[in-house]
Amino acid sequence: MTAVSALFDAPSGWTWLDPVAERAKAVADRVLPGGRVRALLHGRPAGHPAHPALAQLPIGTSVSALLLDAAAVLLPGGAVLGAPARGLTAVSAAAVAPTALAGWADYVHLHPDQQRTAIVHATGNALAATLWGLSLVAGRRARWLRTAGTLTAGAAGALGGHLAYRWAAGPHHAEHLLHLAGDGQEFSDVGALADLPEGSPAQRWIGDAPLCLLRSGNRVQGLVDTCSHLGGPLSQGEVRRTADGPAVVCPWHETAFRFADGAVLDGPASVPQPTVAVEVRDGRVLARVEGPPLPA
Ligand code: FES
Repeated sequence: MTAVSALFDAPSGWTWLDPVAERAKAVADRVLPGGRVRALLHGRPAGHPAHPALAQLPIGTSVSALLLDAAAVLLPGGAVLGAPARGLTAVSAAAVAPTALAGWADYVHLHPDQQRTAIVHATGNALAATLWGLSLVAGRRARWLRTAGTLTAGAAGALGGHLAYRWAAGPHHAEHLLHLAGDGQEFSDVGALADLPEGSPAQRWIGDAPLCLLRSGNRVQGLVDTCSHLGGPLSQGEVRRTADGPAVVCPWHETAFRFADGAVLDGPASVPQPTVAVEVRDGRVLARVEGPPLPA
């Protein structure tokens, strides 16, 4: 492990942050709206978390303001660049609110080690927003406050990237299983129909890829068993009956996925669950993981 990696990893082990993390979760549960607004905050329409996409605006505007401020110092007559830098900083400060709300919605369901890192990430961004806000009323010190805010946001953003990529907060947790299951090319025999329970989910395997199968008489439907949200075992969840057929509710954070198409009906997942095509022949269950076409 490098010193930089160790630095970014450190907050995940700061258990003294747990009371703060718990409090932030409890407040989010109370104040954040549910339903469609919550689904929007999670990024469900786009099929990926909204928080990193929204963060592009404050990052872009604050870095642009930083470059304008640098030009103002280095170039003759650069003082005229102060006004647009100030305008960009106002946009940065305003964009923090929706970005933070989306991040807060995702934060609620993270594991404790991820939440500790998220608390440090959010604290850095709150400090950055405060510095940007102060710069708007600061007169002669405005440029330095803007710069300090942007450098703070840069460090907090880097930690957010580490949280997403190193600690896997946000990515699709089931995508690789299509490849483990043979890239959806062939049907595999996953057992006898008679061994599947009626009306409750059961786990079966194609190679190393777990499946969640649901038997209704002679018909079997399936999803990949590893929840796209954070990897929970769907076969340990409850079945929910809907007008469009059965869904399974993840036992970890209660995302409901429809068996027919993997659609997210409610819950924190933003990515539909990969589906499993199932045929029953001569009392045997044959399954194939379906997924997006692979590049040639
Ligand atoms: S792991 Fe979070 S909803 Fe399934």
